[in-house]
Amino acid sequence: NRSYTTHSQLPSEHQMVYEMCRKFADEELSPNAGRWDREHSFPTEAVNKLAELGMMGINVSSDHGGSELDALSYAIAMEEISRGCASVGVIMSAHNSLYLYPIDAFGSDELKERFVAPWTGHTKDEKGRLRIGCFGLSEPGNGSDAGAATTTATDDGDEWIINGTKAWITNAHESSAAIVFATTDKSLKHKGISAFVVPMDAPGFSLGAKEDKLGIRASSTSNLIMDNVRIPKSNLIGQPGQGFKIAMQTLDGGRIGVAGQALGIASASIDCAVKYALERHAFGKPIAEMQTIQTKISQMTLARDAARLLTWRAAQLKDNKEKFTREAAMAKLAASEAATMCAHQAIQILGGMGYVSDMPAERHYRDARITEIYEGTSEIQHLVIAGDVLKEYRQ
Ligand code: CAA
Ligand code: FAD
Repeated sequence: NRSYTTHSQLPSEHQMVYEMCRKFADEELSPNAGRWDREHSFPTEAVNKLAELGMMGINVSSDHGGSELDALSYAIAMEEISRGCASVGVIMSAHNSLYLYPIDAFGSDELKERFVAPWTGHTKDEKGRLRIGCFGLSEPGNGSDAGAATTTATDDGDEWIINGTKAWITNAHESSAAIVFATTDKSLKHKGISAFVVPMDAPGFSLGAKEDKLGIRASSTSNLIMDNVRIPKSNLIGQPGQGFKIAMQTLDGGRIGVAGQALGIASASIDCAVKYALERHAFGKPIAEMQTIQTKISQMTLARDAARLLTWRAAQLKDNKEKFTREAAMAKLAASEAATMCAHQAIQILGGMGYVSDMPAERHYRDARITEIYEGTSEIQHLVIAGDVLKEYRQ
């Protein structure tokens, strides 16, 4: 159970993931990320290649067609991919940690055969599209208060009937199946919530318009609208009433992925700012020689590295099957704050060039902001961390 803190200490398997994702990001993602952002276009070809690299089923067992890599590999891959393109990062993370994980961890063997194995990047759907998945927890009326779900699931003999709207769903427009959290009894509050897999071609299932977002514009975000959608009884994940806990445990792992995404944005911001500072002259010397610029470079690197240590700690606890809820929240909080600070300071170091789309700094600034909001806002991460600390002291 050795803990790894630097890339050079990593075992060869993790180093391979690091090198492979780094190369892919440099060659295929960074050169195109600006165009995908401008055009709001889903990077189909890049996501298909990501699947060929085994990244669209990264943690799934090989029995179900996955790469069977651990959480640390996932965090490393998410950082490198997101360094190349933060939109591709969220497409990958929503698919892996939010769609595949809950079925893989809590679903029946039958559900895994039907909804995990074909979604690990090896097969296409009827329309010739790579099978992608999404995760529907948030609703128009509740995001942070996830236990207040109003989408309903009604028992109808051999089927469940689902009614309701899920809001802000990443990958909605490219997915062919969704994890949907719905209540079978609102009076039971969070204990009435169950988790279901819903095929998105089911009659009564429709999508809202794509949201016009500040950042991560190459990923789609929209409502899932379910009007008397009928699914087989066996599409329930785990037990009735277990849905909220499935959502919380899924988000614990998902927050490691978002932390990785934020680290990637922070690293891309540092790369762009440091290279510019070495080239740009003012007052007869490179601005990298000005001490106030050096302080920024130091603060950016310090925040990114500290957040990476927290992220790797959370991932390694998960891999060792230890508790990691608090640590995942800390990682996500620290990495998202590092990303927004690094992107902010990158613009400052670039001056006017930071403010225009000729350089990537303004995109990193827009992309960074979401990491403080989704998979639990920063305020919610503080609640999770403090709640766990208080529990420890009260014991
Ligand atoms: N693991 C297991 N069980 C957990 C848990 C965890 N991490 N956290 C809570 N629980 C359990 C509690 O033990 C409790 O169990 P009992 O009923 O048996 O006592 C139960 O869940 C209820 O716990 P709380 O009373 O703490 O629940 P709450 O209603 O106060 O909510 C919360 C807690 C942390 C605020 C939670 O609602 C939350 O995480 N909200 C944020 C939602 C969120 O992150 N949404 C992200 C959507 S996905 C997304 O955004 C996608 C994307 O980025 C691409
Ligand atoms: P609210 O819950 O209304 O919060 C508003 C403000 O109040 C925030 O500052 C919040 O921190 C604060 N607040 C709320 N409660 C408390 C409290 N108890 N203490 C202190 N402050 C509090 N959801 C999914 O289910 N699946 C997805 O794939 C998905 N992808 C997303 C992609 C994008 C681009 C976006 C923007 C959102 C996505 N979400 C997704 C939704 C996301 O998880 C929610 O937006 C987020 O959890 C916050 O919920 P909310 O927007 O309803 O804000």
